[in-house]
Amino acid sequence: MSAAGLGPPAPPAPPARAEHAREGAPATARPTDAVRVEHGQANVGGNAVWSDVDIAIAAGEFAAILGPNGSGKTTLLRVLLGELSLAHGSATVLGAPPGARKGEIGYLPQRRHFGAGTRIRGIDLVRLGLDGARWGLPLRRSNPARVDEVVALVGATAYARRPIGLLSGGEQQRLLIAQALVGDPKLLILDEPLDSLDLPNQSAVAALLARICREREVTVLLVAHDVNPLLSYLDRVVYFGARRAVVGEPRAVITAPTLSRLYGSPVEVLETADGRLVVVGLPEAPAHHSDRHAHH
Ligand SMILES: Nc1ncnc2c1ncn2[C@@H]1O[C@H](COP(=O)(O)OP(=O)(O)OP(=O)(O)O)[C@@H](O)[C@H]1O
Ligand SMILES: [Mg+2]
Repeated sequence: MSAAGLGPPAPPAPPARAEHAREGAPATARPTDAVRVEHGQANVGGNAVWSDVDIAIAAGEFAAILGPNGSGKTTLLRVLLGELSLAHGSATVLGAPPGARKGEIGYLPQRRHFGAGTRIRGIDLVRLGLDGARWGLPLRRSNPARVDEVVALVGATAYARRPIGLLSGGEQQRLLIAQALVGDPKLLILDEPLDSLDLPNQSAVAALLARICREREVTVLLVAHDVNPLLSYLDRVVYFGARRAVVGEPRAVITAPTLSRLYGSPVEVLETADGRLVVVGLPEAPAHHSDRHAHH
């Protein structure tokens, strides 16, 4: 008798990552989804920014939100944070309605930087993520060991005690990531964290976020303009355009046929010898962007 016939049947294998939410397919309910949007439509100022959007991001995945200016990337984050209700469809974040589990989300808003006059030290900024924003506790209730730990995690120990206004953009960004991380979130949401960083710093911050995602099992959702610094780390991309989105693995979504279908016009994707993707012919902001300004 062969060994295969003995003992209880093996449990079903967990689905491979590649099987999650194929591009174009509706998001299917899975208990491990960190973020789920089904047939979502978001309206801003009376216009649909996007509609028919289906997104499923599994717990522990590293996902990027891409698309031109005005395509609705920040709008998606506002929906997930519970700041904007969907006009149609439904969304869950960490298995609950948006906003319900806000204490388990670390959030870094778009375009934050500090002028040279900002006197607060990096380490105090990180501590605010623990005391101020989260529970409204006074500073004396802080946990200095936890603050030092995340400062070390982002590689900012050497300069964390200097006034933040005197630090470089890349150094400030690391401290802001530490602030978003200090409360030990399950989901980290970052709006263009690579914005205004030079290429070496973009790569370094991308690698840092990938490491946090893998080692700390934090789901990372970040908005980016250039996918290339992230490409080797990403499990999933959400690509917005023409008031729609496509979702899938990066090299399945960022192709000429998929993006051309999304935009309804020819888009080319070139791959350089070193594996970088260059999207050519992308229409800029959606039509209603200019419609809206035409009223003024
Ligand atoms: N308060 C508002 N009132 C009216 N329209 C708005 C408002 N906020 C945003 N919008 C519009 O909603 C659309 C989506 O904006 P959103 O900020 O989500 O885009 P985005 O993809 O994050 O762009 P960017 O890459 O420039 O950050 C844009 O057309 C924008 O002009
Ligand atoms: Mg934005």
